[in-house]
Amino acid sequence: MKFFIDTANLDEIRRAARWGIVDGVTTNPSLIAKEGGDFVGTIAEICSLIDGPVSAEVVAEDAETMVKQGKLLARIHDNVVVKVPLTKEGIVATAQLSALGIKTNVTLCFQPIQALVAAKAGATYISPFVGRIDDVGRDGMMMIEDMVQLYANYPELETEILAASIRHPQHVLQAALAGAHVATIPFNVMNKLFAHPLTDSGNAQFTAAWEGVPNKDIVGQVSAWLDKNER
Ligand code: E4P
Repeated sequence: MKFFIDTANLDEIRRAARWGIVDGVTTNPSLIAKEGGDFVGTIAEICSLIDGPVSAEVVAEDAETMVKQGKLLARIHDNVVVKVPLTKEGIVATAQLSALGIKTNVTLCFQPIQALVAAKAGATYISPFVGRIDDVGRDGMMMIEDMVQLYANYPELETEILAASIRHPQHVLQAALAGAHVATIPFNVMNKLFAHPLTDSGNAQFTAAWEGVPNKDIVGQVSAWLDKNER
């Protein structure tokens, strides 16, 4: 499963990039507005930090303006993916952008049939919003499972399922078990994916035990051994 980070915060992206598990970035108008920076400058900076798909969203009501914006956004960097809302006009724009060879991420998807429509329009990614479905008392993960099944019925569809609106590590796990291609994960949730109390206590135990080893210089010892054995 690919991990995208769901943020426009450059500091979070830099910190997560260091972890070596981030394959791409998604932004949306709310995330851009929250950071208060320049939209295009922020997208360009993100592209310089992460070598992978970076979603930048169009903001327009009509397909013509969406396509115009999308064509320009795609020129910022080869890795820019144009994010388009799953409205009827958004689907028209997706089909046109796709025909031009521009990658798209169709967002605000809340039911499997919408995912089928987006795939038929040639979307590169479809973004079902798991957390927001949970928020209204439905099962967001069931929507992911249904989409995986739906796309599996038609192997010619190349659209990747990008589980979005992720709220906690269980969402990531369940999306992976269901077979979603990507999860876009907020920084605070990604930060939790490493943790288990038994990992921490076990690591503390091993570190304490190591104190009893007479020569603790691993680098020095291994280097000397490699020299001696001509390796
Ligand atoms: C998707 O790409 C969106 O940016 C995001 O996942 C929305 O999540 P939210 O429901 O937490 O706003």
